[in-house]
Amino acid sequence: MIDVKEVSLSYKAINNGQILEALHKVTLNIAKGERCVLLGPSGSGKTSLLYLLAGLLRPSSGEILIDNKTISGPQEKAALMLQDYGLFPWKTVVANAELGLEVRKAPKRDRKEKVSELLEQLGIKEYALKYPFELSGGQRQRVAIARALALEPEILLMDEPFSALDSLTREQMQKLILHIWQERQFTFVLVTHSIEEAVFLGEKIVILSEGPGKILEIVENKNLAENEFRDTSKFYNQCTLIRRLIEGQRL
Ligand SMILES: Nc1ncnc2c1ncn2[C@@H]1O[C@H](COP(=O)(O)OP(=O)(O)O)[C@@H](O)[C@H]1O
Ligand SMILES: [Mg+2]
Repeated sequence: MIDVKEVSLSYKAINNGQILEALHKVTLNIAKGERCVLLGPSGSGKTSLLYLLAGLLRPSSGEILIDNKTISGPQEKAALMLQDYGLFPWKTVVANAELGLEVRKAPKRDRKEKVSELLEQLGIKEYALKYPFELSGGQRQRVAIARALALEPEILLMDEPFSALDSLTREQMQKLILHIWQERQFTFVLVTHSIEEAVFLGEKIVILSEGPGKILEIVENKNLAENEFRDTSKFYNQCTLIRRLIEGQRL
């Protein structure tokens, strides 16, 4: 479904015009409905790659195809969840969750209906009229998920969605995202620098090198997306394998 072909991306510094290469000849295929995790140290171009997939940035060379069509602008099929949740502090939970649909000019009744269903499903309905500062980190993350899912995306792009959460909440949210994926069957691309998170959530784990980001390895990690996977020896072995692969890389 997603075809990344020899994609490189360079940025030009604003102050001195110096060119910095963030991604170098990245080639990657993601099948429809697949759970793909991008794992790499900070500065390896993970966020840049998500922006490219969302159509918010253009490759400097190479191309990205979605359903066999070259991306040339923002993707209606994709929803992007930003690293720090991207919630507006002056908007209530329900208004924040409706924002994506509002931008797409969805009729008000549709917006209300979809969002209220999602808030219910995500267990934050009773917070609908509260503001982000009144919520815990996990609840804020749920609002961001509601906003993204309200768009009914075929592709969900998530930038380190759980990195600010304590470890228990983080595990809960990982299970929640698996549960939602099982129900809705979208394709997801999730960025993390946690090996355990990558192994728990990813069917395909793409390991990026320090910047300029190149693909070091793609690890197939077929598992049954079960909550108990974390307690198995296969889980442990996969973590060890990946740790070896990135040895020497700063994560
Ligand atoms: N808008 C930008 N302008 C210039 N350089 C950028 C910009 N965004 C990111 N970079 C640089 O590109 C590299 C990759 O950044 P990023 O994609 O954010 O990596 P990651 O998400 O893996 O930490 C970094 O060296 C960063 O400084
Ligand atoms: Mg990043």
